Amino acid sequence: MCGIVGYIGHREAYPIIIKGLQRLEYRGYDSAGIALYDGTDIKLSKTKGKVSDLKERLENEISTNGTLGIGHTRWATHGVPNDINSHPHYSNSGDLVIIHNGIIENYDALKKELIKRGYTFKSDTDTEVLVNLIEDVKKNENTKLGKAVQIALNQVVGAYAIAVFDKKKPNEIVVAKLGSPLAIGIGDDEFFIASDATPFIEFTKNAIYLEDEQMAIIRRHKEVKVRKIKNDALVDPYVQELQLNLEQIEKGGYEHFMLKEIYEQPQAIRDTFRGRLLSNEALIKLAGIEDNMKKFLAADRIIVVACGTSWHAGLVAEYIFEDLARIPVEVEYASEFRYRNPVITEKDVVIAISQSGETADTLAAIKLAKSKGAFVFGVCNVVGSSIARETDAGAYTHAGPEIGVASTKAFTTQITVLTLIALRLARAKGTISSSEFRHHLIELETIPNKVKEALESDGYVQTIADIYKDAKNFLYLGRGYNFPVALEGALKLKEISYIHAEGYPAAEMKHGPIALIDEHMPVVVIATKKGHYEKVVSNIQEIKSRKGKIIGIVTKGDESVKELADHVIEVPETIECLTPLLTTIPLQLLSYHIAVMLGKNVDQPRNLAKSVTVE
Ligand code: M6R
Repeated sequence: MCGIVGYIGHREAYPIIIKGLQRLEYRGYDSAGIALYDGTDIKLSKTKGKVSDLKERLENEISTNGTLGIGHTRWATHGVPNDINSHPHYSNSGDLVIIHNGIIENYDALKKELIKRGYTFKSDTDTEVLVNLIEDVKKNENTKLGKAVQIALNQVVGAYAIAVFDKKKPNEIVVAKLGSPLAIGIGDDEFFIASDATPFIEFTKNAIYLEDEQMAIIRRHKEVKVRKIKNDALVDPYVQELQLNLEQIEKGGYEHFMLKEIYEQPQAIRDTFRGRLLSNEALIKLAGIEDNMKKFLAADRIIVVACGTSWHAGLVAEYIFEDLARIPVEVEYASEFRYRNPVITEKDVVIAISQSGETADTLAAIKLAKSKGAFVFGVCNVVGSSIARETDAGAYTHAGPEIGVASTKAFTTQITVLTLIALRLARAKGTISSSEFRHHLIELETIPNKVKEALESDGYVQTIADIYKDAKNFLYLGRGYNFPVALEGALKLKEISYIHAEGYPAAEMKHGPIALIDEHMPVVVIATKKGHYEKVVSNIQEIKSRKGKIIGIVTKGDESVKELADHVIEVPETIECLTPLLTTIPLQLLSYHIAVMLGKNVDQPRNLAKSVTVE
């Protein structure tokens, strides 16, 4: 995790780096720091806290002049978040300064060696070890910074995206990547470095995304030289034209990114199926599926690997694939799968789901599956991300940037892509009739407007949030397609409001969680008309007889649940497999309003980061 930014060119580096760090705060926000070269020396300032704290401190502390600089926003891995452990870190001589996103796994052994050679350390970080290792190599081999970085990184085990410069050669920044993302923006006689393209989008649309095990030497007034870390060989980098625009990464009048992203869902879902869902022609066109249809049709099973909300989308996919395409599906936590010695064969298709495309565990699960010969298909949001590149084929969700740490539009657009895939395979396998297929397409096309209608419950959801905001626990129940939605609702609440919440399949309640129910327990029950409705109504009765407070998510016009529940929130009617796209909306709003009412930092909840690039 952590966000890194750098600049070398003709402008003042400070405002670019500070603004860039603010855009990257979704990656980590427990401390921040910056190092600028002001023409004679390095000016460095760092602090525990957010980029805004750094800004306040820095403008009183150091001069902010200079056309070269690097900055960092941290999510602590080695060492508690404090001023000393914050990045950038100096080498012992004070000549080199580094920022790092990732983990150096063998840092302890390297540190012991360096201590033997007389190096001292101020922080508890692996990063300070790395900068001193580079310095040690540079001195011993009497070599330039770029070569020293290359030699040093060959001794390192772990993951990194780094940027380092030498105050004695203040016209170059050396960057390198393995496992953590790093983009280089190519401007007009200026270069930008960042964990993603958002810090430099208003300056240039041209970017190089470094591949794993690549490094680049970025010199003022020169071209970027990309090399392989392993053998120093020169690489011809691919300069990509970015599609992102500034408006997409700003709040656009909303108080929080999360709320903006909740409200963006009708459009995001539409963007996901645009050009892919052709209801007039009764067609679904997904290049990644068409090109690999044989593999999907020959698959013994589909294994989904993902984490967090993306894992919940995978659970929804399990229902859709099995129901429509009759393909057995197993949904795995990537973190468990990668270490379990799982049985995988060449006849398995693995679908990896990830908003960021950078989640370390998902990436490792993909590599494992590939090494066993499975075909791996990615469902990612971030274009050009590590997972998008690592998979054999894939389909983007096209949700646009998701900045709030709590996933919202990523979830619904993942479900949309997975539904398209399931329908396409169902048609190819003949497990769905042409009229059913057409009906599904038509229904899916109506979903954006229905999501819009579901969003109209916002005012009433706020009223409910106000009533239950002080509850200590919440239970979320759903069945079938809506069981994963119950899990997702509970995750949303706990991650942004810090209220304990559990999601359960409604019928499992009587096997344990029912003991928790009393008059203080709010229970959110998804009870839409399609899918086990009567059974869920019985579950509601069980809760009511134990005095639990019931918040029902029901199909518009429902009367039965209204009679039993304390509150009902209506969503429009749709076919069963599409209900998660609607029932999830009030749950997102409920978590959001409770968190806001409790004064929590909705977009940057404590201890979390948007992109989890550590295992
Ligand atoms: O980027 P990914 O989809 O791979 O991220 C996976 C999880 O870290 C993510 O969904 C996380 O659970 C979110 N904070 C949930 O809102």
